[in-house]
Amino acid sequence: MEYQVLYRKYRPKDFAEVMGQDHIVSVLKRQIQSGRVAHAYLFSGPRGVGKTTVARIVAKAANCTVTGSKKEAPCNACPSCEAFNAGRALNLIEIDAASNRGIDEIRELRDAVRFAPAEGRMKVYIIDEVHQLTKDAFNALLKTLEEPPPHAMFILATTELDKVLPTIVSRTQHFDFRRPRETVIRDRILAIAKAEGAKLEPDAAAAIAFVAEGAMRDAESMLGKILATGTNPIALGDVEEILGIPKREALLTLSEHIGRRHLKEAIELLNSLYYRGYEMDYLAKLLIGFFRDALLAKTTTNPDGAPEASMLPEGREALAAHLAAYSANDLARAIAALIDAAELAKRSPIPQLPLELALVEIINADQENKTA
Ligand SMILES: Nc1ncnc2c1ncn2[C@@H]1O[C@H](COP(=O)(O)OP(=O)(O)O)[C@@H](O)[C@H]1O
Ligand SMILES: [Mg+2]
Ligand SMILES: [Zn+2]
Repeated sequence: MEYQVLYRKYRPKDFAEVMGQDHIVSVLKRQIQSGRVAHAYLFSGPRGVGKTTVARIVAKAANCTVTGSKKEAPCNACPSCEAFNAGRALNLIEIDAASNRGIDEIRELRDAVRFAPAEGRMKVYIIDEVHQLTKDAFNALLKTLEEPPPHAMFILATTELDKVLPTIVSRTQHFDFRRPRETVIRDRILAIAKAEGAKLEPDAAAAIAFVAEGAMRDAESMLGKILATGTNPIALGDVEEILGIPKREALLTLSEHIGRRHLKEAIELLNSLYYRGYEMDYLAKLLIGFFRDALLAKTTTNPDGAPEASMLPEGREALAAHLAAYSANDLARAIAALIDAAELAKRSPIPQLPLELALVEIINADQENKTA
């Protein structure tokens, strides 16, 4: 079975399956229901969070013969929807601006836009990475956006909003996509694993979500890599091993050393992790997540409803116990020291040194507080 293409196989076909972009989806649904779709949209946001996916759903809805009668989403059953789902809709044109950057391509587009769609109601152009267009091409596009024919719709997408000309932004309806929360990513990964007939442990899914750093597609690709090994059931240890990420177990032990102010053991463990090949800036990032969880546990009554915590409740409890001696201020200072260390670790001649210094600072600061 081909696992690398999970993100294609599971690409949402309907708004209901799009996770973590409710602020956008709810507006689009209302527009579609009332027949007031815009002729130009701009979707900005990090990669792998659903821009292309939502663009295709909008394009499909704009051509769905059933949606014409006041539905808020594509029916996914009419011939037009079927053509979209099968990737053979003639009135959906996807252009990658990274490889079609010039004025000629946009002029060509401008000429083609004038003609009515060969089939369906709307000709929809999705222009991906639109910030890559040259200045001339931008200006040519601007002209088209100023007076689009009634049968044309443009959906521009970009990962770098600040590189898109303000004149373009102001001629479009702009939606800013967000990184889905880790719990949202975790839950989708769990659902996909289940659909693929694999038993994935929740904390293993949480680890994938953490490493994905908000990119749903990356999480799905990682899951594909793990499924391809044939491991089943899949536990946290398997995920850590296959993806080559530091063991959470070891990090909890490190936190325990920090909590007990055992500087020597903390530095030894850090070094053993370094020699096992873990990236130090990544390790620092994990530690920052841990300390943040501890800080959230201290400052919020309900860490589950609070800003995203990077660990499941069991892990958070263990951590809170390890770091009980730390006040909220200590934790805040520790996080600041770790953020510096994460930055420095990338260019330090001795990669583990910035983290060692941070450990000294964190553990000794705590002692100074105690004696003061
Ligand atoms: N918000 C989301 N909800 C559900 N799945 C998503 C979401 N964002 C991304 N995905 C998954 O990742 C894949 C790639 O998403 P895509 O829309 O191409 O991202 P983008 O265009 O923002 O880079 C999709 O096929 C889908 O499987
Ligand atoms: Mg895309
Ligand atoms: Zn339809």
